[in-house]
Amino acid sequence: MRYKGIIFDLDGVICSTDEYHYLAWQALADRLGIPFDRERNHLLRGVSRMASLEIILEKGNRTYSDSEKEAFAEEKNTTYRQLLARMSTADLSDDVKKTLDGLRAKGIILAIGSSSKNTPFILDRIGLAGFFDAVADGNCITRSKPDPEVFLKAAEMIGQDPADCLVVEDAHAGVEAAVAGGFDCAAIGDARDDERAKWHLDKLSDLLGIA
Ligand code: BG6
Ligand code: MG
Repeated sequence: MRYKGIIFDLDGVICSTDEYHYLAWQALADRLGIPFDRERNHLLRGVSRMASLEIILEKGNRTYSDSEKEAFAEEKNTTYRQLLARMSTADLSDDVKKTLDGLRAKGIILAIGSSSKNTPFILDRIGLAGFFDAVADGNCITRSKPDPEVFLKAAEMIGQDPADCLVVEDAHAGVEAAVAGGFDCAAIGDARDDERAKWHLDKLSDLLGIA
């Protein structure tokens, strides 16, 4: 066993909520008349809700008060939660399920390290509430990826040194966070070719041959 623990990012690694994030931000940007598209959406991967909003507002031609920003973030989250409510256990792919079960059978400790405050809701929708040994998410951190706080928190929760854990990430900000925290990183999806990662996954089940 190469790693004692594996810490998974949630959005884009365990499930595909990316499209829902995109649709909800696009609706807000359209209402505010701010240019936004799928390309720019990549910049929001792994980044917290408020930091994502700031990236969107950068392209606008006016400034907003803190209370306006709070209201915009709330508006986006309401749209996003309506989309998340459509998710079910069918959104947990066979490949992800096979991987999680296979890693658990090897005795590896499994945790989540996500920037999302919606993590408990999403895990519940896809049938993984209670599955992980620890869940560190946007509700228990103050600094968003690329800061390593969420991964360090997850490692602490499972009582393991970062050097003994692998982080799985689909965001460049997340790969940066993992490396900054002293973790090996396996990159997948959008961040697959990130050179800072030790492993490059075509699909999550590639982990079964690594861990
Ligand atoms: C990350 C997503 O997992 O969570 C980001 O990759 C998102 O796109 C962030 O902004 C925060 O999510 P939430 O659900 O707290 O708004
Ligand atoms: Mg992600």
